[in-house]
Amino acid sequence: MNIQQFLERELTKDLVKISGKNFPAIVKPAQRTEFGHYQANGIMGAAKALKQNPRELAKKLVSNTQARPFETEIAGPGFINITLKTDFIADALSALRSDPLLGITKPKSLKIVVDYSSPNLAKEMHIGHLRTTTIGDSIVRILEYIGHDLVRANHVGDWGAQFGSLLAYMDQLTETGQSLSTELKDLERFYQAASALFKKNQDFAEKARNYVVKLQSGDPNCIELWKQFISESIRHSQVVYKTFDITLANSDIRAESAYNDDLPTVVQELASEHSLLVESDGAKCVFLDEFKGKDQKPLPAIIQKSDGGYPYMATDLAAARYRTRVLKANKVLYVVGVEQQLHLKQVFAVAKKAGYIQKDQEYKHLSFGMVLKEDGSRFKTRDGADVKLIDVVNEAIERALALVSKKNPSLSISEKQKIARVVGIGSIKYAELSKNRTTDYIFDWDRMLSFEGNTAPYLQYSYTRIRSLFRRAEINSLEGKIEITEEAEIRLSLKILQFPEAIESTLEDYQANVLCGYLYELSGLFNTFYERCPILGSYNQTSRLILCDLTSRIIKQGLELLGIKTVEQM
Ligand code: ARG
Repeated sequence: MNIQQFLERELTKDLVKISGKNFPAIVKPAQRTEFGHYQANGIMGAAKALKQNPRELAKKLVSNTQARPFETEIAGPGFINITLKTDFIADALSALRSDPLLGITKPKSLKIVVDYSSPNLAKEMHIGHLRTTTIGDSIVRILEYIGHDLVRANHVGDWGAQFGSLLAYMDQLTETGQSLSTELKDLERFYQAASALFKKNQDFAEKARNYVVKLQSGDPNCIELWKQFISESIRHSQVVYKTFDITLANSDIRAESAYNDDLPTVVQELASEHSLLVESDGAKCVFLDEFKGKDQKPLPAIIQKSDGGYPYMATDLAAARYRTRVLKANKVLYVVGVEQQLHLKQVFAVAKKAGYIQKDQEYKHLSFGMVLKEDGSRFKTRDGADVKLIDVVNEAIERALALVSKKNPSLSISEKQKIARVVGIGSIKYAELSKNRTTDYIFDWDRMLSFEGNTAPYLQYSYTRIRSLFRRAEINSLEGKIEITEEAEIRLSLKILQFPEAIESTLEDYQANVLCGYLYELSGLFNTFYERCPILGSYNQTSRLILCDLTSRIIKQGLELLGIKTVEQM
């Protein structure tokens, strides 16, 4: 049950009864918990509309007590503080406890496509892929947990200009009799050399562009070589996903090239059915009024270039068409960096005009900022190359191993390694997810690996504390009545009951930091409870152990939704 919604419903019912009008009570968790744990703010607005004194109206609402499971009290000019009765809290905790979903009410199940990770395949995954991969994977986990039907869409770039350059470069190598390799590290080297050539050598650029067209029109030799690049790159990205506990499987890849056969149809539909297509300098474009360049000139969305090649825009339109028509998605979320905002705006706008996005569908860009170094500069290696994602993950595990070995030297090597993996990966992911998604953030090893503050190790450690308590308690079953008396117990209980609210607020704008903040507060309240209320051997040991158990279940579940594991000891 969502307590906030329950209170809102109850008080709104009464407010409607008293006022005869449909005013919402607007219940929010109270800021100042010493007064009440929730507050109703809607009375002011209702009183204003009714031209009544807000305190008078509030008085009526407060006196209408019947058998409410909560107490009310007027505050300030006409707010109402709400305090839940402890019996009610105990019953709600029992209900939450027996619910595998921990109190979450499943919404109507929707088909949701999440487009995330989606690296370009000519090179290794780098730090630039960290955010989309981590954020996307967490969103998918949360949406799936509450019962939606998810399609993970790894829209990898395997079809664009970069492959033209790569093919052109390899062609040159063969001409000069050098050996060809499709190992990823060589491809990466070739690709860098090819991009450099593309920029400074007109002839090469021309050749590269021809290769894209050749590839896209199905030239068998090109396709053969290209297939080798792709399978090598995919093999690499799957290794990264597995190491980093990302739920993307091979079968979630639907590469840009998968839409190749649809591209002429898209062009034709835009031209004939919707009369959107205009020729401009030989290219086929869509001009929409809302897109203007710096000079106020209309900005084209290029669907087909003059040489016949299809750019990024075209595959994205085909993908939208596929997601609507074939997948029948209710929602499509694009977890893509803020630098592609204009591109996606154009995709959505053109797709709407073309009927590839319908009125009842929600297509949304979940953008994010950059990962920066501690000095605020871009994250690059000393020689200016992108830092490889796998190196970052391995470094985190190494650093965590050093930390764990220091903290608990008596553990066996294999135990330490297992914990280091969970803590290291958890640290990177949590550092990422606990920040507001839309802004840049600074990658700081010491902070993310700290056992204090809003970090993964802190939460993982809180979890192990509870687990070790249970090992000491040596009990097999936890049956008994929940009794809440102490303030620390009440506060912890209310936080536990807010788990469903935390999930809902997290999904409002797909901000995982809301869930992180919730788990951090929960752990903090647990630690206070643990200090103030004796547990083992106390008069209500069972009731308190139930609170411990619920806390640990929520931490474990919450972290899992962020893609982070827990261990039993560390
Ligand atoms: N491959 C693209 C890149 O690396 C990201 C793709 C995002 N998804 C999309 N449907 N455009 O920049």
